[in-house]
Amino acid sequence: MKTETIVILSQREIDKMRRAGHLAAQLLKHLEPMVKPGVTTQQLNDEAERWTQAHGAKSAPLGYKGFPKSICTSVNEVICHGIPNPKQILKDGDIINIDVTPILDGYHGDTSKTFLVGNPSPKAKKLVEVTEECLRLGIAEVKPGAKIGDIGAAIQEYAEAQGFSVVRDFVGHGISNIFHTAPDIPHYGTRGKGKRLRPGMVFTIEPMINEGTWEVEVLSDKWTAVTRDRKLSAQFEHTIVVTEDGVEILTQAEDNS
Ligand code: MF3
Ligand code: CO
Ligand code: CO
Repeated sequence: MKTETIVILSQREIDKMRRAGHLAAQLLKHLEPMVKPGVTTQQLNDEAERWTQAHGAKSAPLGYKGFPKSICTSVNEVICHGIPNPKQILKDGDIINIDVTPILDGYHGDTSKTFLVGNPSPKAKKLVEVTEECLRLGIAEVKPGAKIGDIGAAIQEYAEAQGFSVVRDFVGHGISNIFHTAPDIPHYGTRGKGKRLRPGMVFTIEPMINEGTWEVEVLSDKWTAVTRDRKLSAQFEHTIVVTEDGVEILTQAEDNS
């Protein structure tokens, strides 16, 4: 439980978040063509690290609470916090979430996508599509006066109606010059509950949606979170800011303003 107060960012800080977010989105786009059968998750990590440094940024995950690599690579039953590994070779039919967080000029851009490797099963494709739609529906709830619970409720209603489950153990988070801060943003919950959203709040929405049980197990490496039933899990993430009249996605490659 995060007890800190929720920070309202200044226009200057939001500009920095936008630049970091833009870089994060560009990094995911840069990695996408590498996601093919035969590539290792370590190769994805190393290219992410090289590209991040070349753009004057740092990889927030590297050394964060002891995390050993620059990005998270979460394959198939891995929910999140998968550790890149030179022995892990992607194969046709896998799904992989790549989660990147460059720090640019002191501010974090946190975004992730789940990619298809070759041609996964129809069920895997549906899970990935539903998860992306969950993120879209969660973002669509964001405007001044809405409640944090509205976001999770929209995500949970859709995911469960599609026959999938929502992970409880990991949530979205406030983010700025600090990687993880208040508020928590659960991807399940009840409309009308939780804190009120105000302009200048910046946080992530990052639903993790499972094919089977929502229950999590963390492997002996202390990071890799997998589904207890070892069925598939997918995730998409954006960093967003509450604006005067709604929401702006900060982790976009194209400027939509
Ligand atoms: N990027 C992840 C998130 O969305 C956090 C990764 S923390 C790490 O919050 F230490 F695993 F990198
Ligand atoms: Co995040
Ligand atoms: Co992330």
